[in-house]
Amino acid sequence: MTSNPLEELTLQQLQRRTSMKWRAHPADVLPLWVAEMDVKLPPKVAEVLRRAIDIGDTGYPGGTAFGEAVSQFASQHWHWDDVEVSRTALVPDVMLGVVEVLRLVTNRGDAVVVNPPVYAPFYAFVSHDGRRVIESPLDDNGRIDLDALEDALERARAGAGKDAKVAYLLCNPHNPTGSVHTVEELRGVAELARRLDVRVVSDEIHAPVILTGSRFTPFLTVPGAENAFALTSASKAWNLSGLKAALAIAGPEAAADLQRMPEEVSHGPSHLGVLAHTEAFKTGSDWLDLLLQGLDANRTLLGDLVAEHLPGVKYQWPQGTYLAWLDCRELGIDEEAADGLAVVADLSGPARWFLDHARVALSSGHVFGTGGAGHVRLNFATSQTILTEAVSRMGRALTKS
Ligand SMILES: Cc1ncc(COP(=O)(O)O)c(C=O)c1O
Repeated sequence: MTSNPLEELTLQQLQRRTSMKWRAHPADVLPLWVAEMDVKLPPKVAEVLRRAIDIGDTGYPGGTAFGEAVSQFASQHWHWDDVEVSRTALVPDVMLGVVEVLRLVTNRGDAVVVNPPVYAPFYAFVSHDGRRVIESPLDDNGRIDLDALEDALERARAGAGKDAKVAYLLCNPHNPTGSVHTVEELRGVAELARRLDVRVVSDEIHAPVILTGSRFTPFLTVPGAENAFALTSASKAWNLSGLKAALAIAGPEAAADLQRMPEEVSHGPSHLGVLAHTEAFKTGSDWLDLLLQGLDANRTLLGDLVAEHLPGVKYQWPQGTYLAWLDCRELGIDEEAADGLAVVADLSGPARWFLDHARVALSSGHVFGTGGAGHVRLNFATSQTILTEAVSRMGRALTKS
């Protein structure tokens, strides 16, 4: 296998899909919004699924193969050598895993700190489960601002009862800015969390998608992070969002907490999901390498396209993920105020404008919380033809307006 997975499907083939990305908008719209990729399944993952279907292997999930596959991948790719299967738990997906882990270390009414602009469901899932969301915005370069974080963690504690607990939901790497936190930044986070008695939950779903020039640091490998948790899955890197499964990993000092997670939580993922995610981590590295080369090329192409077609729009060069954060504030398109509880498909400001005038669907900045308004998030995990056509359409619409 030598070809770029992003160049294997035509627009016509993609339009036969029925997933959210391809059905939320009419067929004349180019969808570059939700984090689904325009790729076929990695062949070995497809083979495992076909085999399961052929033999009717469609029961409940079980066993430790998923944990073992993640452990091996973490060691090979990130020199993270102590992902012990006994400190992992199968969870239905990353967001429900986040909720279940937060239930282990906080109570209803407690506060969870997040770094906006950040993945919109962080707000919805956390507040739906009765926790308060406190914001600690990233700085202007999309980096974690440790002073702001300290202030937010202290605010989260202030006024709460003496038994109140505080958690920090880290997005590592960060969606939507594509920032890959450095080891120094994460050391600062761990030091702060220890000092202020805060439990860290690190969402590492994008961890395998690191582009040239950056290096991923698993939060649990940082000194001081031994009482933290991480959540991972193959759903972003190998495009398996429809095949639900994820893994919670406890640091050595959080193992006893993870033991308290009800066994029923592990009944949530689908067996086919667990098979697919396991295979991706076990045998998907070659396919991932090709994908990353394609994403690297698209990251550069997008920079060129924005410079050529979208004057006034600032492109924040992503270090990881396949999501580009475009600052459209200079275009002067009005946007609703961020309320942090919008759903992912809500549209306002520039994203609404580009949908209406260019027939390109992007994610609307305001759903990502404070600092998101006036921005759009563009998913560049697509072919160069589609990417070029989408940005050209956006440019033509701006020229006409
Ligand atoms: C940071 C982040 N966390 C979680 C998710 C969703 O993961 P899951 O479908 O496993 O809940 C996404 C999806 O894009 C994401 O970007």
